[in-house]
Amino acid sequence: MKAIQILGDISSPKVNTNYSMPEPTPRNSEVLVRVHAAGVTGDEILWPEPYAAPSRIPGHDISGVISAFGPDYSGPLKHGQEVYAMIAADRGEGQADYVICLADEVTPKPTSISHEEAAALPIPILTAWEGLIDHGALKAGMRVLVTGASGAVGTFAVQFATQLAGAHVIALASSKNHELLRQLGAHEVLDYNASSWKSQVTDVDLVFDTVGGDVLIKSWETVKDDGAIVTVGDPAPSWAFGRGRAVESIDHPKVRHMHFILTPNAERMQQASDMIDAGTVKVLAVETFPFHKAEEAWAFARQRSRNGKVVIKFAEAENSQSSHK
Ligand SMILES: NC(=O)c1ccc[n+]([C@@H]2O[C@H](COP(=O)([O-])OP(=O)(O)OC[C@H]3O[C@@H](n4cnc5c(N)ncnc54)[C@H](OP(=O)(O)O)[C@@H]3O)[C@@H](O)[C@H]2O)c1
Repeated sequence: MKAIQILGDISSPKVNTNYSMPEPTPRNSEVLVRVHAAGVTGDEILWPEPYAAPSRIPGHDISGVISAFGPDYSGPLKHGQEVYAMIAADRGEGQADYVICLADEVTPKPTSISHEEAAALPIPILTAWEGLIDHGALKAGMRVLVTGASGAVGTFAVQFATQLAGAHVIALASSKNHELLRQLGAHEVLDYNASSWKSQVTDVDLVFDTVGGDVLIKSWETVKDDGAIVTVGDPAPSWAFGRGRAVESIDHPKVRHMHFILTPNAERMQQASDMIDAGTVKVLAVETFPFHKAEEAWAFARQRSRNGKVVIKFAEAENSQSSHK
């Protein structure tokens, strides 16, 4: 089968296209999916997992069709069904013609969108939902600052914060994206390029940060004394992964602060599918690349202020198109 590999090491990665990889076989209750399109999270090239996998195949977000089941599978999914999946952070291997998924990673894809659009969604949807609801304990009426609000994760954070909890959302993004963010439900929009942005935000109950670095540090000045900061920005802050407390907490001792790695959750993806098909949640713009342009796709995905989530196409579906021939 065709697959993308990340060769080399983390200091000098090389995106490779391989046309003769072995096709995986599902065991136990695993599900084999014929991948139609796979999403690219550019920062995955900085994560240790793709280098640890013997296959060197990256990719956690896929949309495709069920091809086979392991002998013990007894769930509701059917052969030939169109599905999307988020494969757990410690496995991946989604950027290939076929991928093994665990049964609780796969759910029917939204019917109103293409495989390319669906492949862009699992990580952004699950990260936003888990960050706001599980770690951020979001409640109705809270004031929430979303940084990187125009990005893939941020776009869903803005929509979920307003729709799942009725929160008051303050979105931080370049001014070119402000109109879109207002349409998605943001109540206030601020430009991170204006140095004064942090003085315009006060009394925030929850910061959901998808940028990290300087933006994360400044966000401490916006949060209430007993508020919370949840971050997924890469690289992770020095205090992540149980390495102690943030230095900023000396001045803000009651502010809860946490970094997390998302977990797969097919049930939430099903709920998100329903919201997408009902038209209440808008999906991301996608830039689709053909398989042979994988290196270009990864380079594009690593640009921070590009428009749209990068998707690589593996199989031809009806009505599917590549933005990059
Ligand atoms: N821990 C986890 O489980 C997890 C899960 C998913 C993602 N992540 C990480 O979360 C981050 C966001 O992911 P994503 O897919 O949403 O990324 P993305 O689509 O590339 O969005 C990044 C956003 O950051 C904004 N931005 C760029 N430079 C900025 C700056 N200097 N200051 C403030 N904002 C800036 C951009 O806004 P404008 O376009 O408006 O300029 C852009 O919309 C990535 O680092 C990713 O690796 C972590």
